[in-house]
Amino acid sequence: MPETVLTNSALEEMVDTSDEWIQERTGVKERRIADDKDSTSSLGLRAARKALARANVSPRDLDLIIVSTSTPQFLFPSTANLIQDRLGASRAGAFDLLAACTGFIYGLSLAASQIEAGAIQTALVIGAETLSRVVNWQDRSSCILFGDGAGAFVVQGKDEPGGIRCSVLHSDGSGADYLFARSGLRESWKGDFPPNGLEMQGREVFRFASRVMVQATEEVLEMSSLTLDDVDLIVPHQANLRIIQAAARGLKVPVDRFYINVEKYGNTSTASIPLAIVDAVDSGTLKSNSRIVLVGFGAGLTWGASLIEWEAMPTPGAALQDFLRESWYLLARMRSLFLRFRRLLESLLFQNGKRRNP
Ligand code: UT7
Repeated sequence: MPETVLTNSALEEMVDTSDEWIQERTGVKERRIADDKDSTSSLGLRAARKALARANVSPRDLDLIIVSTSTPQFLFPSTANLIQDRLGASRAGAFDLLAACTGFIYGLSLAASQIEAGAIQTALVIGAETLSRVVNWQDRSSCILFGDGAGAFVVQGKDEPGGIRCSVLHSDGSGADYLFARSGLRESWKGDFPPNGLEMQGREVFRFASRVMVQATEEVLEMSSLTLDDVDLIVPHQANLRIIQAAARGLKVPVDRFYINVEKYGNTSTASIPLAIVDAVDSGTLKSNSRIVLVGFGAGLTWGASLIEWEAMPTPGAALQDFLRESWYLLARMRSLFLRFRRLLESLLFQNGKRRNP
C-alpha cells in the first residue's frame, strides 16, 4: 500500500460530503493514494517482490507474469513488461489483463489453467491500481469510493491436489456505460486529446453487484460439488460494505463469513482481493487448510468467482535467501541498464555507418 492516507475528513474539504455519509453508505473510513513518484508498476513491483519473498520463489523461476490493472502506466508497453524487467525475470512472458475489478480472478484462473495444461510451472499474478489518477475528484458520488494499492500471488504447480480448484468468469458488455474511463485516445485522427476520468452510475452498479456476487458464488460452489457449509471464508471484492451485506443476505449466511477490510483501503479495484487475502493471513483469520471463495465484479460489466483450497501458510525464506534475492534485484537493474546501453550503441553504430538493418 502507498503510505499517504486520504481520510473521509480530508475528502470533506474537497467535495460536498461528510465522514458520516461515506461511512454509512460505503463503510469506507480511509483510502491510500500513490505518491507522485509512484505508479501502477512501482506499486505492482513492490507487491511482486513481497509475494516472491513470502513464497520463497526466485524471479528466475517465473514463467509468466500477469498484471491485472485498469490503470496501466502506459497504453503500451504493458505494466507487466516493466515489472518483468525490474524483477530480472528474464525467462518469463508478461502481459496486462483488463477485466476491471474482476481482473484478479481472471488472472488467477488463467495462471492455473496454464499450469494445469503443463505449459508453465510458476506464475506471478499481480493486481495493481492507481485509481487516484483516473478518479474525478470533483464527483462526490464516485471519488469517495476508490483508492490505490497492489497485491500479488505466486501460483505454482504441485503434485498434490488443491490450490485453485475452479473459477467462473462472466462478462456483459451491454452494461459498459455503467462504469467506464476513456482510454485517452483522440476520437478522430486530427482531433484533440479528450478529457479522461472515471464515470459511474453507482446505483445501477450496486444493484448488479448485489445480484452477481450471489450468483457467481453459487455457481463456483456448484461446479465443485460443494455447499457454503464447506467454505471457511468468502473473500469478496471490497467495493462497498453494503454490497457485501446484500450478498450475505442473498446467500443466507452471516456477514462474518465474509472477509472485509474496505474500511481501510476503500475500493482498490483489482487489487482489493489479494490485499484482503494478505490481511486475512496476517490477522490469522485465514488459516492453513481452509477452503475459500473469491468473488468479484466490476466494469465491463464483468464478474466471477474462484474456489481455492488454501493449504499452507507461506513461509518466509531464510535471511541468506532474502539477501540473495535483494542482490538479484540489483543485478536486474544493472542488466536492464546494460541492455539499454547496448541498444543505444547499436543504433549509433548503424546510424554512423549508414548501415541498413538486415
Ligand atoms: O468496483 C465497482 C465499483 N463501483 C461500485 O461498487 C459502486 C456501487 N455503488 C455504490 O457503492 C453506491 O451506489 C454509492 C456509494 C456510489 C452511492 O450510494 P447510494 O446509496 O447508491 O447513493 P445514491 O447515488 O442513491 O445517492 C443518494 C443521495 C443523493 O442525493 P439525493 O438525490 O437523494 O438528494 C446523492 O446526491 O446521496 C447523495 N450523495 C452524496 N451525499 C453526500 C451522493 N454521493 C454523496 C456523497 N456525500 N459523497
